[in-house]
Amino acid sequence: MVSIMHLLIFLLAPVAVLACEGDCIIDITNQYLIQYSPVVINTFQTMANLIDAKIIPPSSRRQDSISYFTPALHAYNKTAYAGLEHAIFPSYFHGKCQDANGINPPGCPNPDCPKVCGTPGSMVHFYPKLCSIVFEQTRSLLTNLTSPGSKTYKQMEAMVLADASKGKRRALSKVSRFAKLQARGTTNAKTTFASIMKSFPQTMEDTCGGPSLSQCSWEQPMKTFILQYP
Ligand SMILES: *[C@@H]1O[C@H](CO)[C@@H](O)[C@H](O)[C@H]1NC(C)=O
Ligand SMILES: *[C@@H]1O[C@H](CO)[C@@H](O)[C@H](O)[C@H]1NC(C)=O
Repeated sequence: MVSIMHLLIFLLAPVAVLACEGDCIIDITNQYLIQYSPVVINTFQTMANLIDAKIIPPSSRRQDSISYFTPALHAYNKTAYAGLEHAIFPSYFHGKCQDANGINPPGCPNPDCPKVCGTPGSMVHFYPKLCSIVFEQTRSLLTNLTSPGSKTYKQMEAMVLADASKGKRRALSKVSRFAKLQARGTTNAKTTFASIMKSFPQTMEDTCGGPSLSQCSWEQPMKTFILQYP
């Protein structure tokens, strides 16, 4: 009887204690989205400031220049969760270590077991890897949303060009070769907009504190958050 009890505890305890599933997966993914929200806003605000300074005539500047990025922010809001959850679990962290028969691979589960388990302990153990997965996924999604060829890029470009030509029209309304100048202005604005949008990946890295990503680590609060799950 005692030995069967021991056997059961031995077999069941690792599953119950060590897997990150359900709420653990959902909450950790959401917590990273919350942490990244000001990073995304600050990155876009930096770019919006450049758009104002380089493209929009003072008389046409908006109070909230970040509103140029509304299309990208909406698309990000809709797709970020699914993409991030998948990038963390199971692309790298696997939830359970057990195979289909409920058997742990040799040396597992422990933080250095060859298969990276999705346990809270292993996520803390591989914390730098976890951080870089979250950063890369977030930056990749937002890079796509700010790249020419995406629907969101075209929407943002249209907003910026409309504001740019509004001011120009006012400034140049007395100029006879107005149409020609306006066409040239639009071409310049397009090119400048493209180069500002191209700076997104670097601007986001800068917002995160440079290559070390020191401002996008949240190491202590996130480790504490992760370890609240059994
Ligand atoms: C999307 O917007 C909703 C409502 O404002 C918010 O609760 C949610 O956290 C946002 N998601 C992301 C990924 O920003
Ligand atoms: C961004 O686009 C590339 C190329 O189409 C694609 O491979 C990648 O998965 C996309 N990233 C995200 C996060 O959707």
